[in-house]
Amino acid sequence: MKDLKDYIEKNKERFLEELFDLIRIPSISSKESHKDDMYKAAEWVKDCLLKKGADKAEVCETEGHPVVYGEKMLDPSLPTVIIYGHYDVQPVEPLDLWKSGPFEPEVRDGKIYARGADDDKGQMFMHFAAFEYLVETNQLPCNVKFMIEGEEEIGSPSLGKFLEENREKLAGDVILVSDTAMLGADTPSITTGLRGLSYCEVHVTGPNRDLHSGLYGGAVANPVNILCDMISSLIDKDGRITVKGFYDDVEELSDEERAEMGRAPFNEEAYKKSIDVKELRGEKGYSTLERTGIRPSLDVNGIWGGHTDKGAKTVLPSEAHAKISMRLVPHQNSDKITRMFKDHFLSIAPDYVKVDVEFLHGGEGYVSPVDTPEYQAASMAYEKTYGMKPVPYRSGGSIPIISMFEQILGIKSILMGFGLESDAIHSPNENYPLFQFYKGMETIPYFYKYFSEMKK
Ligand code: BES
Ligand code: MN
Ligand code: MN
Repeated sequence: MKDLKDYIEKNKERFLEELFDLIRIPSISSKESHKDDMYKAAEWVKDCLLKKGADKAEVCETEGHPVVYGEKMLDPSLPTVIIYGHYDVQPVEPLDLWKSGPFEPEVRDGKIYARGADDDKGQMFMHFAAFEYLVETNQLPCNVKFMIEGEEEIGSPSLGKFLEENREKLAGDVILVSDTAMLGADTPSITTGLRGLSYCEVHVTGPNRDLHSGLYGGAVANPVNILCDMISSLIDKDGRITVKGFYDDVEELSDEERAEMGRAPFNEEAYKKSIDVKELRGEKGYSTLERTGIRPSLDVNGIWGGHTDKGAKTVLPSEAHAKISMRLVPHQNSDKITRMFKDHFLSIAPDYVKVDVEFLHGGEGYVSPVDTPEYQAASMAYEKTYGMKPVPYRSGGSIPIISMFEQILGIKSILMGFGLESDAIHSPNENYPLFQFYKGMETIPYFYKYFSEMKK
């Protein structure tokens, strides 16, 4: 690629400033109060695509936050790469743990600190920059379409319909996504799997009002205690989920496949150290990368009830609540798992309380094959810029819309992530190393080149 490194070097400050502009828009999709910011961010993306060389770009209304669509069509006989990304971000609480404002991006120690620095504004922007370079230097080898949504962090509730309604517009050969991580800055990898998800909220109700815990304590069941009992029964001593039928459809990998997975470099000591835990815990008989990559999991994401403010208040709460998510693996169906969970959770409810299970959102996992032109092209691209062949690995995260791309559009996705485990996505002090930001921009054009050559 002609002058690629020079181009990035010459424009690196401007690219950073542009990304900072987008980051400053607090586009938190889950909060009604940020509705206007969602439009601002969508408009920003549209303008950016036009500036960088798209023939057309538009902000498309949905029932939720808008989708930005853009394209540059060179010739219908050439292959078409569709770039997917999301301009929405997660909430930022707890605010006091941030060293700098979540929407006031700054560079410290070679990393961009801000909400969205990695997930997904930073990673998405690498594609805008790579596109600018290819257009500006007349080296774009194929057609490009952009589909940038604003609801990924809330489960993409409107994008399915958008796909159904725009099948023709969204015709293409591959969907290229940078919204995942690599195993390490010196261990390039390609994400070959994502987990599915079923996310529920459970409600436990006891007495008709908060009671004095002295006058009633010991005589009336406490919904918080009961909820804790119920939750702790969901995982047994071997780390297996006890929901009836939960493992029925789980894909079992062959010993060979597991051995292959085991070759991915992974330093368990460094992993423990990075999150400050003495021991890891998970399903018996599986390694850490297997536990997150090919095995399902169940986690309480939040739990509340009774007195949670400062100080002591003696109360026997009338209600308790928890948000419970299950990460699913290939062949497990999200709706079926949600039904099983609901039936199971209701079946273990004792008579002293009333229990409800509410479904929040879900979606299917994804496995991306390695014997495709897009995998080959991605592999060669990483090898070119990182000087090392990337390893395939299955991530524990979820991007439910990826399986719908295949279902509805019939197009496979290739997950070229440049995030790092240490980027603290969804957490305070989310960050993205400048090295990855610029290396990503350098790698992406090679994907276009190799993919287009292979498709000839
Ligand atoms: N980009 C992440 C998913 C991800 C991150 C996958 C790193 C692999 C490696 C995405 O924005 C995300 O956060 N997804 C949510 C699911 C969504 C339905 C809320 C997740 O995985 O929790
Ligand atoms: Mn993301
Ligand atoms: Mn995310």
